Amino acid sequence: MGRYRIGVATGAWLFSGSHNRVQLWLVGARGEARLELRLRPARGQEEEFERDVPKDLGPLQFVKLRKHHSLVDDAWFCDCITVRGPGACEEATFFPCYRWVQGQDVLSLPEGTARLAGDNALDVFQKHREKELKERRRLYCWATWKEGLPRTIAAERQDDLPPNSRFHEEKRLDFEWALKAGALETVLKRVYTLLSSWSRLEDFDQIFWGQKSDLAERVHRCWRDDELFGYQFLNGANPMVLRRSASLPSRLVLPSGTEALGAQLERELQSGSLFEADFSLLDGIPANVIRGEKQYLAAPLVMLQMRPEGKLLPVVIQIQPPSPSCPAPPLFLPSDPPLAWLLAKIWVRNSDFQVHQLQYHLLSTHLVAEVIAVATMRCLPGLHPVFKLLIPHIRYTLEINTRARSQLISEGGIFDKAVSTGGGGHVHLLRRAMAQLTYRSLCPPDDLAARGLLGIPSALYAHDALRLWEIIARYVQGIVRLFYHRDDVVRGDPELQAWCREITEVGLCQAQDRAQVTDAPNPPQHGGPIRPGPQPGWDVPGSRWGSRALLVVIFLHAIQTG
Ligand SMILES: [Fe+2]
Repeated sequence: MGRYRIGVATGAWLFSGSHNRVQLWLVGARGEARLELRLRPARGQEEEFERDVPKDLGPLQFVKLRKHHSLVDDAWFCDCITVRGPGACEEATFFPCYRWVQGQDVLSLPEGTARLAGDNALDVFQKHREKELKERRRLYCWATWKEGLPRTIAAERQDDLPPNSRFHEEKRLDFEWALKAGALETVLKRVYTLLSSWSRLEDFDQIFWGQKSDLAERVHRCWRDDELFGYQFLNGANPMVLRRSASLPSRLVLPSGTEALGAQLERELQSGSLFEADFSLLDGIPANVIRGEKQYLAAPLVMLQMRPEGKLLPVVIQIQPPSPSCPAPPLFLPSDPPLAWLLAKIWVRNSDFQVHQLQYHLLSTHLVAEVIAVATMRCLPGLHPVFKLLIPHIRYTLEINTRARSQLISEGGIFDKAVSTGGGGHVHLLRRAMAQLTYRSLCPPDDLAARGLLGIPSALYAHDALRLWEIIARYVQGIVRLFYHRDDVVRGDPELQAWCREITEVGLCQAQDRAQVTDAPNPPQHGGPIRPGPQPGWDVPGSRWGSRALLVVIFLHAIQTG
């Protein structure tokens, strides 16, 4: 006999929350008790109930839930159940839920302490994990969006997703409102400029109104300056392309008459102050046709010098690599007529936009994160410590990506309507980028070292990325080491091994067979290409796959939201 205090935290009700009777079973090692609770239609609140139970239940293992079914089956998003007792016992037992409770089924929630499979003294948890994974594998299936690209969740539209992966109301309204506001601003600007033609650069000011940040104002003031152009490679929206030159790029053909330029580049190279941004990935990508108008794509190379005070300044721009029809393509220099030089820089910015959005934003963050999200849902039960570690960081990944595939990069989507890589070129570019994707390139310490960007005071992105990575590393490794004391614990965890295999062999399309790409200057310290399967050297806890993959996921999440 004892009195229990039960806390019920409600995230949301789909409708009014007026049909709110819940049956709840407390399941302990020595028995179980069934209770009836009546919930208020509250959101984001915890309600507490006190109930007497006539027998000793022993340590609690599960709570089970069933929502009373009345005329309307109102879905209830339950955050978690907390139980205190019996009697004066103050220690709370937590039962995380974080999912929709709907229909007539009884939902079983195990006590929330993380456990590895086979770690359990109690067989009841093992059966629970197997049942949970069987159900999740039925709900979360793999699909191929395009051959040669990471696999995705099987969902044509966001409505096809499992309800627990959908945006909550607040997020959905926020997202859809932002889209509508953006579309409205574009239409208004179009109407505003309908009758005027643009003949000078200043005419762009006609559309520079609406939502503006301080940064946008500053860029607006100095966007033509070489200093800002160079700064953006270090600290702008896409700080991923720049690298310190180890030699003069083979594509840079210097025609006669440019000996002084050649000597300058050689001097900068010798002093370690020569940098390059090479957009060869775009070479030969077919350009879009928008409303009957052919678009164009460049594949430029920019050579830059780092000045002693930390400014990065462009020295020369080559818009296209050499080809049989043009073995020495023209070079653009800061000493060229101002508009010619500015136009060359604008082409570079255009290429930077395409590569940023497709290679670094869509592929390296969204699509890679989706692979890990799907594998996590299919392979790791809620009791697994890695599931608990990752689940806050993959929330909404599936819906945002499904929306992108049905509205942004789909046939007739925004890329096809408005972007010069649209109309199929974007898929082409993604495939090339995928062939170059390495595990090291996703880890900032390796990536920045490979690009020669460590120890540069004006490389602010590099400093921030490393600090963020170190903070995440302390947190992730602290948790991983609690569970994986030795290599054999990692090897002996069938759920973790299945997770690694699904990420590598299924989601990343046999990435373990992909050869090392040639851009890595040093022998890989952390394995080179993505090879997180059960091979020797990869399953070491705390140093390589064990926590580094988790670091990657949480880092991707941090840079997405940060
Ligand atoms: Fe994004």
